[in-house]
Amino acid sequence: MAEGRSLAGKKLLITGGAGFIGSNLIHFLLQEYSDLRIINLDKLTYAGNLDNLRDVENDPRYEFIQGDIRDRELVEKIMPRVDAVVHLAAETHVDRSILDAGEFVLTDVFGTFVLLDVARHNQLEFFLHVSTDEVYGSRETGCFSEDDPLHPSSPYSASKAGADRLAYAYWVTYHQPVMIVRPSNNYGPYQYPEKFIPLFITNALEEKPLPLYGRGTNVRDWLFVEDHCRALEMVMIKGIPGEVYNIGSGNEVPNIEVARKITQLLGKPESLIRLVKDRPGHDLRYALDWGKIKSLGWQPQVSFDEGLQRTVNWYTHHEEWWRKIKEKSLDYRRFYQSYYQDRQAEE
Ligand code: NAD
Ligand code: DAU
Repeated sequence: MAEGRSLAGKKLLITGGAGFIGSNLIHFLLQEYSDLRIINLDKLTYAGNLDNLRDVENDPRYEFIQGDIRDRELVEKIMPRVDAVVHLAAETHVDRSILDAGEFVLTDVFGTFVLLDVARHNQLEFFLHVSTDEVYGSRETGCFSEDDPLHPSSPYSASKAGADRLAYAYWVTYHQPVMIVRPSNNYGPYQYPEKFIPLFITNALEEKPLPLYGRGTNVRDWLFVEDHCRALEMVMIKGIPGEVYNIGSGNEVPNIEVARKITQLLGKPESLIRLVKDRPGHDLRYALDWGKIKSLGWQPQVSFDEGLQRTVNWYTHHEEWWRKIKEKSLDYRRFYQSYYQDRQAEE
């Protein structure tokens, strides 16, 4: 691995480690480092799932604490025990933020404040804040660099933008060693099946309709979660406090094309794809200039075709994992569907 800060022998606090990216990161780091220790602080909301971490739950290097990042007393007990923080815990689903923004503001903004404020009174090597490319808002051409202004457009991305700038303020004001990353759309194993790619894969496996918003022309830059984990490792080692790093992959694909690829990979008919009423305020396109992290020595290794094939294979072989949690999200989905009537039904 690249020279720089050493993670060997260190103890990390990972928040939101029972979620999609967090559980992938924990697997990745425990495989890479024999003497790294991890505390995973997670509230276990609907999106947190200890099944994601069954294989490491008895690993002496790993400790799970169920709790809320907003609980200052709890965070004050944990922070002195660690050398550094990787902060992932958040409410993350844009559609849910449109229906009810409250938890997004409380967890994503206030929860981040609690962590930063407690960290201020502890000597940390770094506080890596995981933001998102959505803080920049949408753009039709070109791509965003780290110095561009933020124009978030959903309650989710606005909450993340608040957290992002709060983290930066703790660097400027208190010289906290904060580093910020803004990753693009992740996909891969263990992603909750309410997000686009796992929802479409699991619906296709069940031969249920694939609800494509609007005309399916929205574009996302798809980053395989394993590449994201490598990027986070790179920033932990070589990142500079006070700096922001975009993490993109150059895999810009319109949603309709992603949906078609999924049906093809699973040998299902394209007629499963249904155009439904658009998400309100739906960002058309996200695109990042990720030259800055590239100059640290990172670049993605997994092409979209390879990553999507691996993801489809994973969901095909882990039906028990997704069936259990998909059932739990059905109430939300029904509420959502009644809120956004199916466009075909309207026409
Ligand atoms: P996720 O929804 O799969 O997991 C979030 C985790 O945070 C869950 O385990 C949940 O239980 C936990 N959590 C929520 N509220 C909490 C609280 N108050 N206290 C403690 N734990 C709490 O999310 P993800 O997709 O893994 O995203 C992780 C982070 O990466 C988020 O900050 C998200 O904004 C950011 N991000 C995600 C993507 C993506 O495409 N998934 C892209 C860019 C940035
Ligand atoms: O860009 C990074 C962000 O990516 C993260 O910060 C968020 O946490 C993460 O949820 C994701 O946000 P998106 O809104 O881009 O992801 P989602 O999977 O919800 O949707 C991806 C695209 O697919 C988007 O254009 C909306 C569309 N979509 C989504 C769903 C759930 C559909 O067409 N139909 C659907 O049912």
